[in-house]
Amino acid sequence: MAPKKLLCLPSLLLPLVTLLLPQADTRSFVVDPDHDRFLLDGAPFRYVSGSLHYFRVPRVLWADRLFKMRMSGLNAVQFYVPWNYHEPEPGVYKFNGSRDLFAFLKEATLANLLVILRPGPYICAEWEMGGLPAWLLRKPKIHLRTSDPDFLAAVDSWFKVLLPKIHPWLYHNGGNIISIQVENEYGSYRACDMSYMRHLAGLFRALLGDKILLFTTDGPEGLKCGSLQGLYTTIDFGPGLLSKADNMTKIFALLRKYEPRGPLVNSEYYTGWLDYWGQNHSTRSVPAVTKGLENMLKLGASVNMYMYHGGTNFGYWNGADEKGRFLPITTSYDYDAPISEAGDPTPKLFAIRNVISKDGNLLAFLDFLCPQGPIHSILPMTFEAVNQVKHNPPSG
Ligand SMILES: *[C@@H]1O[C@H](CO)[C@@H](O)[C@H](O)[C@H]1NC(C)=O
Ligand SMILES: *[C@@H]1O[C@H](CO)[C@@H](O)[C@H](O)[C@H]1NC(C)=O
Ligand SMILES: *[C@@H]1O[C@H](CO)[C@@H](O)[C@H](O)[C@H]1NC(C)=O
Repeated sequence: MAPKKLLCLPSLLLPLVTLLLPQADTRSFVVDPDHDRFLLDGAPFRYVSGSLHYFRVPRVLWADRLFKMRMSGLNAVQFYVPWNYHEPEPGVYKFNGSRDLFAFLKEATLANLLVILRPGPYICAEWEMGGLPAWLLRKPKIHLRTSDPDFLAAVDSWFKVLLPKIHPWLYHNGGNIISIQVENEYGSYRACDMSYMRHLAGLFRALLGDKILLFTTDGPEGLKCGSLQGLYTTIDFGPGLLSKADNMTKIFALLRKYEPRGPLVNSEYYTGWLDYWGQNHSTRSVPAVTKGLENMLKLGASVNMYMYHGGTNFGYWNGADEKGRFLPITTSYDYDAPISEAGDPTPKLFAIRNVISKDGNLLAFLDFLCPQGPIHSILPMTFEAVNQVKHNPPSG
């Protein structure tokens, strides 16, 4: 009898133990195409994330800003990696001080935030040359963001330095990075060079393995050239777009043409907007931002708010637009974001926190906690009557 009991014990305890303490080999973040959702460690999951750029915030303030994001109810942080900030000259790499993005990843872990990483190579971000190093232009005929061999050689050598450092930080390897974006709104770039996108996808896979979720993101008009088989397609839109003739139902219906199954994701939901020198400060009203967010959360979508905290373009790192005339971005990247440039919570932050709290985390776990669906009863029922006890002790 005794040996038999010992044999029974593990089958009883293991499910409980694995539930409480996910082991390294059980850590996973995947798309569940059958139920249009993500699964984190096998349980239904959606992220409510915010953008924060380590390169726009002094290192001593990283922890403070990340903590304020977590306290707003966010469960993830999304950020770019600017190539030109880390490789100032060909083959010269800087990852120390305020450029130590691994220290930033560690701070995000301490704040209990998952990470959505956007390493480019092009990032836009209203950053100097969209993150591409100026030294690329020493070859005057170079075609940026295409399969021009000169451009690809520089991209390959940079990613062969960066991505192996990222590898241990992937979620399934014990880190906090759940997904990685390839390029940035490539569909808005006139080149539309699909062999360039295929090259990047192959490079990311070769250096990061096949478990990590790779994705693209584009505005509604950019999906055609920006999406690629094998990279999960997501979309960018803000409350500004929703107030026009378009609406969320229509925008997500368009996304479904490119990504028929899986969770809906808005990778850049605009809480504010950028500023140009000589123009008024851009703003987005609190009701517009919260209404759009509320509707997206009701649909079960995952969302990243761009920006959650904008920060400052220190030095000469501000970018510029060319729209018929030269339009430089201001030093401030306040963005009318929920956390102000000075780091203070604004009324927008508290309004967003209220919206997120209405859609409490427990709802995301209902299918997991009660797989057979809701049970209606006038009188309270026992756990046994609702079949809550799944692992009955063996009777022998
Ligand atoms: C980073 O490294 C460079 C060169 O190795 C050095 O000059 C600089 O002082 C370092 N910065 C910090 C903050 O450690
Ligand atoms: C959004 O668009 C859909 C599809 O065209 C339409 O059925 C719906 O009424 C629109 N909603 C709003 C709020 O305009
Ligand atoms: C900036 O705002 C002021 C006050 O609202 C307005 O009068 C002015 O036209 C605006 N300027 C621009 C360039 O939009």
